[in-house]
Amino acid sequence: MKYLAVLLGCVLLWAGEGPKQPLAFSHKQHAGTLNLKCATCHVNPAPGEMMTFPAEAKCMGCHQVIKKDSEEIQKLARFFQEKKRVPWVRVYQVPTFVYWSHKSHSDAGLTCEKCHGEVVGLEVMAKVKDLSMGSCMDCHRQMKVSNDCTFCHDKVH
Ligand code: HEC
Ligand code: HEC
Ligand code: HEC
Ligand code: HEC
Ligand code: HEC
Repeated sequence: MKYLAVLLGCVLLWAGEGPKQPLAFSHKQHAGTLNLKCATCHVNPAPGEMMTFPAEAKCMGCHQVIKKDSEEIQKLARFFQEKKRVPWVRVYQVPTFVYWSHKSHSDAGLTCEKCHGEVVGLEVMAKVKDLSMGSCMDCHRQMKVSNDCTFCHDKVH
């Protein structure tokens, strides 16, 4: 019982911890409190594989004024002035030998929450959902989508 509690504790800790980002950006603040839509910041340009990260200019649209004296916002402003991208640390990432497309999954009606959890509640972005090969295959099995090896590997598109 005690071991189980310790194990559970570790799992929760692991699930709740995201990498340290170059800026303390909060989804809870922006997507939760401010209720900004995911698509305001994450667009899905053709061919639709990537959701992409927002341009610094988009952030500065608000932060030229909002909290402009805060240390974190000054860091952001510096990236913007120097025309550099903020080097966000990736949270979800599949290896290059895996074929992946956001568009195919969105077109199938799957929501962001299905794979990334309740993002609106996250102060720090963390991997709250497992997206290993096993979980990809679990959903494919449930939704009667192919699980042939070549469906996700070595597929020519
Ligand atoms: C104001 C802009 C903004 C909004 C709105 C926003 N995001 Fe983000 N998102 C970011 C930024 C910046 C990052 C990179 C920093 C981080 O991981 O916290 C990010 C990172 C992520 C990541 C991690 C990607 C990875 O692999 O590193 C996911 C998943 C994500 N967002 C999903 C969402 C979802 C789902 C919503 C809507 C509920 C949303 N975001 C709304 C700006 C935004
Ligand atoms: C629609 C306007 C809007 C956009 C767009 C926006 N923010 Fe914000 N941001 C806010 C507001 C409002 C707050 C809360 C300010 C407060 O605490 O008074 C905030 C807070 C923050 C803070 C915390 C600042 C501090 O010191 O407390 C950071 C960091 C931040 N935003 C980064 C970003 C980044 C990075 C982007 C672009 C990916 C972005 N914001 C886009 C409105 C915006
Ligand atoms: C079926 C599962 C699934 C769904 C649904 C999904 N994602 Fe993802 N997401 C992933 C995977 C897998 C990755 C890693 C992809 C990679 O490494 O290229 C990822 C990566 C990301 C990233 C990092 C940047 C990028 O483009 O790789 C962002 C941001 C993101 N997702 C946001 C979203 C948003 C916003 C939605 C809803 C509109 C969404 N995701 C829906 C599985 C999903
Ligand atoms: C929550 C359910 C779900 C998860 C999780 C999921 N998929 Fe899928 N996937 C689907 C559905 C549904 C389709 C079928 C879309 C269609 O019919 O076009 C699909 C289609 C695909 C396709 C075909 C896309 C195309 O353009 O031909 C690939 C490749 C794929 N998934 C890879 C993955 C990988 C890799 C992962 C894990 C990182 C994953 N999927 C996770 C539900 C899921
Ligand atoms: C639905 C998509 C999907 C299907 C179907 C699939 N894989 Fe994968 N595979 C993945 C993903 C995603 C990863 C990366 C896992 C990770 O990063 O944890 C992966 C990783 C791998 C790896 C590397 C393992 C490692 O430990 O790095 C091998 C080998 C592999 N797959 C073989 C196969 C074989 C053989 C089949 C057919 C029986 C198959 N895959 C079917 C999505 C898939």
